[in-house]
Amino acid sequence: MTTPPFTVRDDWKWFTDSRYGLFIHWGPYAQYGRGEQILFREHLDQQEYAEQAIAWNPRHFNPGLWAETAGKAGFKYACFTTRHHDGYCMWDSAYTDYSSARQAPQRDFVREYVEAFRKAGLKIGLYYSWIDWRLPAYFDGPARDPEGWEKVRTYLHNQVKELLTNYGQIDHFFFDGVWPRNADDLQSVELLEEMRRLQPGILINNRLGYSSTHDGYRADGGIGAGNSDTLGDFGTPEHLIVADRKRLWESCQVTTWRLWSHVIGERWRPADYLLDMLCECAEKGGAHGGNLLLNVGPTADGQLPPEFVERALEIGRWLEVHGEAIYGSDGGSLTEFITRGRQTTRENFLYLIIRFWDGRPVMRMADLTSKVKSAALLTTGQSLDFEQNGDELIIKGLPAEAPTRLFPVIRVECEGKPETNSWGRERLWEGDPARVAEWARGQRGTSVFADGKER
Ligand code: GLC
Repeated sequence: MTTPPFTVRDDWKWFTDSRYGLFIHWGPYAQYGRGEQILFREHLDQQEYAEQAIAWNPRHFNPGLWAETAGKAGFKYACFTTRHHDGYCMWDSAYTDYSSARQAPQRDFVREYVEAFRKAGLKIGLYYSWIDWRLPAYFDGPARDPEGWEKVRTYLHNQVKELLTNYGQIDHFFFDGVWPRNADDLQSVELLEEMRRLQPGILINNRLGYSSTHDGYRADGGIGAGNSDTLGDFGTPEHLIVADRKRLWESCQVTTWRLWSHVIGERWRPADYLLDMLCECAEKGGAHGGNLLLNVGPTADGQLPPEFVERALEIGRWLEVHGEAIYGSDGGSLTEFITRGRQTTRENFLYLIIRFWDGRPVMRMADLTSKVKSAALLTTGQSLDFEQNGDELIIKGLPAEAPTRLFPVIRVECEGKPETNSWGRERLWEGDPARVAEWARGQRGTSVFADGKER
């Protein structure tokens, strides 16, 4: 774990406490069932797409039910696509009539989402795409079409301000789709200031485009994926779990294979795989985040797919029992526990999150230097005997049968904050190799023979 180079503001603590958010990709593209990028990926006819979008009328959208399911599943916040790259708006925007409020549904979906999720006690996130595939000036940019660009930029700024004005407290804002613009074109620094004025507590992600003043020169002209290194309060590794050392971070991940909105017939990742991603985020995180924003793509008629609900609720039941190892935990990966699962810590507790159960009554853990006070199988509440010899901990009396279908957790209480030795700090392929030489030499000498004797 590294020391965060910044302080987490008190009003941002909900983010590190939450660890687990629900990403919702939903819009008229769901009708095709081939992902949110269908318009571009299959370069559909723009006019036909728009006709189908304005006719879209999802009759089964019941945000109260979505929020209830999200709460039971253990999510602490959500982030909803207010407008994806296709430009269709899911709220009543004063700046366009291409919206759910002014077309077939005649409903402000953003308002309904915000109200239902807030009522269920979740923090509120909004996703907003800079890019709009319908607008040529977005792609021509300020150099080729200064006037057109200025209209687009103003439209984007106005919509973001509208979203932050009309829906009460917004906690989380997820920009996306910067390419081919940069922060200077988008004037995202200026917009950030206005956003913070409207919503002083808001957390804003880093997809703001590279900025010549803030991020410096970029070989790609500042386009690339447009994820600023310096702007924004949290990093957004996508399909990846890597700690952002400069700020808070949240890994966004799909529950299917690749796409974010509903894909008909797509395969689903199993619950243990999804839970492992959450544990990995918590393990790699700590005081500066390490959240999982797990995605769902509701169906065109407005329902959460049963495959998703089943998996999410299974994880929710696991979190009811084992939540203390995840929510607000202090990061982990203390020792070389990778062979068994993941580790998180909280104050004086070390949580061993065990991916598979080998049925042996005894578990050996190397490299914990802190004195252990007690051990328990959190899954059943059973307290466990243990023995400590130097840095070696032997946990005893484990049941032969796995105590849960998902990951059993052992809680180890130490006398102080759990600490490790150099083996825990420097893993395989890391650190000074001299320690390996010393270990081998000290115990076996230098011989290649089985008995360790020189011939
Ligand atoms: C991307 C994709 C998009 C998705 C997003 C989620 O950049 O363009 O479809 O919404 O990532 O992080």
